[in-house]
Amino acid sequence: MQRMLSGIKPTGELHLGNYIGALRNFVKYQEDYEMYVFIANLHTVTIPQDPKEIHKYLIDAIALYIACGLDKDKATIFLQSDVLEHANLGFILSCHSYEGELDRMTQYKDRKQKGETGLSVGFYTYPTLMAADILMYDADFVPVGDDQKQHVELARDIAERMNNRYGQMFKVPKPLIAEVGARIMDLQDPARKMSKSDQSDKGCIFLLDSPKTARKKIMSAQTDSVNIVQFDTENQPGISNLLTIYAALKEITIKEAELIFKDYRYGDFKKEVAQEVVELLEKLQSDYTEIINSDIIEKTLTKGKEKAQKIASAKLDQVLTTLGIKI
Ligand code: AMP
Ligand code: TRP
Repeated sequence: MQRMLSGIKPTGELHLGNYIGALRNFVKYQEDYEMYVFIANLHTVTIPQDPKEIHKYLIDAIALYIACGLDKDKATIFLQSDVLEHANLGFILSCHSYEGELDRMTQYKDRKQKGETGLSVGFYTYPTLMAADILMYDADFVPVGDDQKQHVELARDIAERMNNRYGQMFKVPKPLIAEVGARIMDLQDPARKMSKSDQSDKGCIFLLDSPKTARKKIMSAQTDSVNIVQFDTENQPGISNLLTIYAALKEITIKEAELIFKDYRYGDFKKEVAQEVVELLEKLQSDYTEIINSDIIEKTLTKGKEKAQKIASAKLDQVLTTLGIKI
């Protein structure tokens, strides 16, 4: 069975973009792949966080992963810092990456270009830790949103470089970008992707938003004056985004969604989209509450750690031995 791996950085409440672009796909993949899913808690430290706040996000993220349908008996679900080998391999990979490569990473480059100062060294080198997360498990596929594709490509480059230098060491992973919903946009500003680091949260639907709030956000989503429900990201980015959300949640194509709504007025169309979103949230939140009040999280992480660590410690051993630094 081919191996798949992905992680989510819990620096905020999970939102609909995370669900459509990542979580719901993981649940499908666990059926067909040997699936590794982890909470990238070390990655959160790259930018300053409030410890209390981050702790809540962390717990919520795990509970929501499970509420979405990830199952400890099908997938290996673990906390990154429970497997200390990640940081260790991350350092070794950072020594096999070049400054020029990290300078080109969009996340860093964008913030630098905006004139931001005081970025941590960890923020700069974090793509090498992400490469370690991936290469550690010899993953065949890494499902990510398109914003993370560049980081998976760096992992490929590092793997190829080290394989050339030392002999076969890592599997070269492939990024896997979901077709529908790879990029859910902000409801208020559909030129930007829906994001948890959003200043105003009107454009972002959080998975723990009350159904009432979520409905309101959809109903006030930005549209246009064309007045036809059709997929045209250039001239109708808001409507196209709502069509994408609907199609993703209904598991139909955008073409099919377009057909359903071709004679709808915007208000009625939005009501239908809102209804889909609300149904999803109600189901997730009821499962979430049950999970939070049980020992499922603890059991899941204990089992995940055990399995992940076995692989990670063997891999790190192999790498240290190959580099000649193990005694
Ligand atoms: P992040 O929230 O940026 O840590 O991303 C976690 C996962 O969700 C990654 O696979 C992202 O690519 C995906 N993701 C984040 N935001 C969106 C979005 N607006 N649309 C689709 N996928 C997203
Ligand atoms: N960097 C990713 C993000 O910000 C999270 C992440 C960390 C990840 N390690 C990973 C994703 C390994 C896929 C594989 O969303």
